[in-house]
Amino acid sequence: MKETKTVKVDPNSPDIRDIERAASIIKEGGLVAFPTETVYGLGADGLRADSVEKIFQAKGRPQDNPLILHVASPDDVFRVAKEIPTTVDELIQVFWPGPLTLVLPKQPNVPDIVSAGLSTIGVRMPDNTIALTLIARSGTLLAAPSANLSGRPSPTQADHVAADMWGKVDLILDGGPTRLGVESTVLDMTENPPRILRPGSVTLEELKDVLGQVNGPISRNGSSLGMAAPGMKYSHYALDIPLFLVQGEPMAIVRRIQEEAEKYRMSGKNVGIMTYDESKDLYLGCGDVIRSLGSRYDPAQVASGLYRTLRHFETCKVHVVLAEGFSETGLGFAVVNRLKQAARGRIIYA
Ligand code: TXA
Ligand code: MG
Repeated sequence: MKETKTVKVDPNSPDIRDIERAASIIKEGGLVAFPTETVYGLGADGLRADSVEKIFQAKGRPQDNPLILHVASPDDVFRVAKEIPTTVDELIQVFWPGPLTLVLPKQPNVPDIVSAGLSTIGVRMPDNTIALTLIARSGTLLAAPSANLSGRPSPTQADHVAADMWGKVDLILDGGPTRLGVESTVLDMTENPPRILRPGSVTLEELKDVLGQVNGPISRNGSSLGMAAPGMKYSHYALDIPLFLVQGEPMAIVRRIQEEAEKYRMSGKNVGIMTYDESKDLYLGCGDVIRSLGSRYDPAQVASGLYRTLRHFETCKVHVVLAEGFSETGLGFAVVNRLKQAARGRIIYA
């Protein structure tokens, strides 16, 4: 067990002494959890195999699931990647700093453990002052997966990190809730046209505006569960309670959830319902815990509260969660991808 410390940091103008303290932990080979604009990351020196090994241990992460390297400046890409296509410049201009991870051929100085033995490396420059200052002060690149135990929903606030990682990480930099709430889009630049390996906060439509052609994730059984990123074959975003995702037309979804909820409650079970502002009043008296993700027409709001809401149902000790589906366009593609994974195959077509 490590002695975990946590420190509150102003996300706009972090106290440099706190960042220096975190940077010295990184330099000594330790682990620091830090906020990004998407989710909290669990960072270690990305050029030191012994440090990176600690990330896998702390998360219980399978060794064949590669990590993303986080950089403080676009120039750092040339330190770790090679054969960089010219389109990468355009993507960096438009999306960095921001939630886009570029997968490129890896240079030999990056330890194999970071890329899980692959010949490629994922790189991104996060859009968060705490993260960027920490990377710069550490004088290295930070390997950082989401700071949750493997398989759990990603942490979007420091107390989520503490719940999963207490005693496993040296320091948690608490920069408040993250802005976006869904992870970066992972884009494979070694294919032409590039392919989305994991849908995320940069949408397919936004990428097409810059690149023209972009391929979507390779799907399994025609579903949009991207299976191309090595990590996507493992279960993710799972709660310790079953979640059913109900898809279909909005009113059919509501009726089906009302029916399912009644069945569960007749058998003495407490029911959680995950809904949207437009339909939440239709469940009054139907569920024990009813939570809206925000307006159905505001995907950014829905994405930003998704993991927090999933974790909330666990703390309320409901026996089952019934979740309304969402439109799969734009950012909704990433939201539905996460909901499907949280449901682990429990999908009902209303
Ligand atoms: O927003 C994010 O990306 C957050 C923050 C902390 O930056 N990080 C994050 O890391 O979500 P993680 O490790 O939880 O997810 C990384 C995903 C995994 O699905 C992994 O398989 C994929 O990216 N990935 C990483 N390197 C890859 C590579 N070289 N080739 C293909 N997929 C890769
Ligand atoms: Mg993760």
